[in-house]
Amino acid sequence: MDSMPSGPSSILGALTRQRQASLFDKCDNFTRADELKAVGLYPYLRVIETGQATEVMVDGRRMLMLGSNSYLELTTHPRIKERSAAAIHQYGSGCAGSRFLNGTLPIHLELERRLAALVGKPAALVYPTGFQTNTGVVASLVHQGEYVIVDKYIHACILDGCTLSQGSLVRYGHNDMADLEEKLTRLPPAANKLIITDGIFSMEGDLCDLPEIVRIARRHGAQVMVDDAHGIGVLGPGGAGTAAHFGLTGEVDLIMGTFSKSLAAIGGFIAGPERVINYLMHNSRPFLFSASASPASVAAVLAALEVMAEEPERLLRLWDNARFLKRGFDELGFDTGRSDSPIIPIVVGDWERCLEVWRFLRDEGIFVNPVVPPAVPPGRCMIRISVTAGHTRGQLEWALERFAKAGRTFGLIGSLS
Ligand SMILES: Cc1ncc(COP(=O)(O)O)c(C=O)c1O
Repeated sequence: MDSMPSGPSSILGALTRQRQASLFDKCDNFTRADELKAVGLYPYLRVIETGQATEVMVDGRRMLMLGSNSYLELTTHPRIKERSAAAIHQYGSGCAGSRFLNGTLPIHLELERRLAALVGKPAALVYPTGFQTNTGVVASLVHQGEYVIVDKYIHACILDGCTLSQGSLVRYGHNDMADLEEKLTRLPPAANKLIITDGIFSMEGDLCDLPEIVRIARRHGAQVMVDDAHGIGVLGPGGAGTAAHFGLTGEVDLIMGTFSKSLAAIGGFIAGPERVINYLMHNSRPFLFSASASPASVAAVLAALEVMAEEPERLLRLWDNARFLKRGFDELGFDTGRSDSPIIPIVVGDWERCLEVWRFLRDEGIFVNPVVPPAVPPGRCMIRISVTAGHTRGQLEWALERFAKAGRTFGLIGSLS
């Protein structure tokens, strides 16, 4: 008797054929988010039903917002909203193209002049987002045989920019100036080098040691770039940022900022020498090949800059609130790392505990962000708190009581004896 056919077209072949591997297997195998949802510990993609004010509605419930980067409380400012709406009436809802081709409006140019003046640089260039600003600047400026030297806690978009660039990436320990010096010493002295640091670090809330970075850069012939996403509007005279805060504007080559934090919109900018801005304008791919920032965003930032200048008390209130809350956490015995800004982390340890603390605070009515790897090293998970100029003393005192309860429940602080 003939043996049964068993080729790929036979029934048996079809039954025994191995399931073909698929590109999407990794998606099917990614179950972490589902597992967290199943146990009520999924903290992401929460729907906020109101604007970014000190109180927000989530799931129909009022919560105290301590997780927004709207440091100056400008996203809900009446004049900023009006100017944004007026720009839509004048120019429409989008530019339908990149700055390079059909997407440049007079307000883009006006904004670039104003931003350059704010941070004290000759020129500035506006990108569609802060993320694209960093990737675009690093990828187009750093070429093969050149080096980008970054703080270990630098934002992800700088790292992506390094990956896209043909240059070599070197990382130094967080704010570790001896390590920075040592890493630079090992590089070819004649090679071009760009040191990049955050002004205020986005998770830890501490400041970079800019005076020392600038001294080291000078010794090694390196250029310096500050990612001031969290420093613009928060540090320095009139919110001019980290370089101005340290009186080192002239020593920093490039200053980057976003519109998505203090400046009440979305978008980003880089400021620096005219020739560098001109080069980026003609070589930086996210600038060339992505649609320009929308009229609504650009007008909102122009209005935000006006409000910042006219209402300096916002900056004072922001710092008053930041100091009050930090002192409150420290007196309770929380580990707030080296925060020295409106970003205050509470270091919790492993990620499971971090999510449990987050859930406890959510149930108490507080909106905060849990931060877990890869945003922080394993074992340094934290509850990231950000305070704004809009918080009242009463709100912060109310929050401190609830944090104290959470701290005692999870053994983050000593219990009352
Ligand atoms: C330090 C830092 N740089 C860059 C960015 C990217 O900015 P944006 O979100 O405005 O694109 C962020 C935003 O989270 C940030 O924290």
